[in-house]
Amino acid sequence: MNLEALLAARLSVALEAVAGEPAEPVVRASQHADFQSGAALALARKLGRSPREIAAEVAAQADLTGLAAVEISGPGFLNLTVDDDVLVALLAEPDTPPPVDRQRVVIDYSGPNVAKELHVGHLRSTIIGDALARLFAWAGHDVVRVNHLGDWGTQFGMLIEHMADLGGPSGELSLSDLTAFYRQARVKFDGDDDFRTRARLRVVALQSGDGPTRAMWQRLVEQSERSFVADYARLGITLGRDDFAGESSYQDQLASIVEELTDKGLLVESEGALCAFPAGFTGRDGEPLPVIVRKSDGGFGYAATDLAALRHRALDVKGDRLLYVVGAPQSMHFRMVFAVGRAAGWLDGVSAEHISFGSILGPDGKMLKTRSGDTIRLSDLLDEADARATSPAVGMGAVKYADLSSDRRGDYVFDWDRMLATTGNTGPYLQYAVTRIRSVLRKAAVEPGPVVLADPAERRLALTLLGLEPVVAAAIEHCEPHRLAVFLHEVAVAFSAFYERCPILASPSRLSLTARTGETLRLGLDLLGIPVPDEM
Ligand code: ARG
Repeated sequence: MNLEALLAARLSVALEAVAGEPAEPVVRASQHADFQSGAALALARKLGRSPREIAAEVAAQADLTGLAAVEISGPGFLNLTVDDDVLVALLAEPDTPPPVDRQRVVIDYSGPNVAKELHVGHLRSTIIGDALARLFAWAGHDVVRVNHLGDWGTQFGMLIEHMADLGGPSGELSLSDLTAFYRQARVKFDGDDDFRTRARLRVVALQSGDGPTRAMWQRLVEQSERSFVADYARLGITLGRDDFAGESSYQDQLASIVEELTDKGLLVESEGALCAFPAGFTGRDGEPLPVIVRKSDGGFGYAATDLAALRHRALDVKGDRLLYVVGAPQSMHFRMVFAVGRAAGWLDGVSAEHISFGSILGPDGKMLKTRSGDTIRLSDLLDEADARATSPAVGMGAVKYADLSSDRRGDYVFDWDRMLATTGNTGPYLQYAVTRIRSVLRKAAVEPGPVVLADPAERRLALTLLGLEPVVAAAIEHCEPHRLAVFLHEVAVAFSAFYERCPILASPSRLSLTARTGETLRLGLDLLGIPVPDEM
């Protein structure tokens, strides 16, 4: 239930009567009352009248019977106090998702690269994308998850050639450490002219569909996919095998992308390459910037594949909203690809959005790396979380919550001690609140019964709990899971205050309130993809 919306609906009738035209009710949760509206202040400026006078008229005309009491405060705020029986009635209902117009939402997230293993660079995309997928699905949207794996490109020349040197696809070789495999190939590529030439020929063989080459490529891809799936399982990620649509899966559409964009007059030949120059994108020198669709050697790169993926998601998958959960450094890439897609007419009625995020920083404020300067593998990171935490659920919850609780656009510092603390705005603190609630309910001396809101701490908790629906609506609208994290923390804090002041075990009302708190916290954590351990 959305109390804010309910109050706003009642107020807006009165506001329109007073203003003579529709006016925004701007109802917000407040320190001074349950909710507050500053609408009279905005209206006063517009009508050139005293805000208190307007507030008084609105208060007199608003039909709030059976919902709330209204008082005028300060320069002309409307303070709204919701009737206790309304709170009690709403609390008796389980949490429901906000009403939405059902859309097909395609969410591109994780997107690791084959033979590189999942490293922290893809951690944020994986965690944020999965939380969004859960949120959109709960709200009733039709969610299509896509894992745009980096499984194609010139780097496969050296990887396959290295595999051939080791005995081919069925030869005795350990791909278990793909990072080492990648590094060995790289060393040969950088130091051995003959190997480099063979690697280049391999790229051609791969692109022209040579059987043995394809078999080795397949082996690499499968091995990587296995390790990604294992990492996803450890991290509780809802991406399945069916959601894998790597760059290679668009290869047969690239020629038709060139054809279509050429027909639409969007491609220009530039130094042997075929490029689109979307309007409004210029470099520092004012020169128009290209989206390279076909390289001068005839090959296709990252941008061409993304154009094919964009067209496919808009026209074949028929997505209404296309979300790309990818780090901030690719912002220009997506803006330009979307601009070309719009010019090609693929995005009519479709919203393509880059859901950008900042970096994970180490304690030194630089990109998170291992001591030796390598990128950190996700599986190693999770091993360390397990070692430091009391259980895998706590370690994983701590890592995910640390990521999801801060605004995704900013960078955040990865700090084990802070994220694993059982106090403060952390995953373990929320998990602990749920396990504590569970144990309180187990020890109960009576059955839960009707809720009575006698103590201010009970009222505050009740009011806080009812905020889930608008928070989920906002988290979805802005693709900001941290809004939900902030809300859950507020619930846990309100519960803590209630727990300190109000003896629970012998009170049917308080047991109900406690159980309801547990349900909301569990639901919210589940929407963020954070499990609750049995005990802590
Ligand atoms: N594999 C890419 C990378 O590691 C991320 C893919 C993002 N999705 C996309 N459609 N481009 O940077």
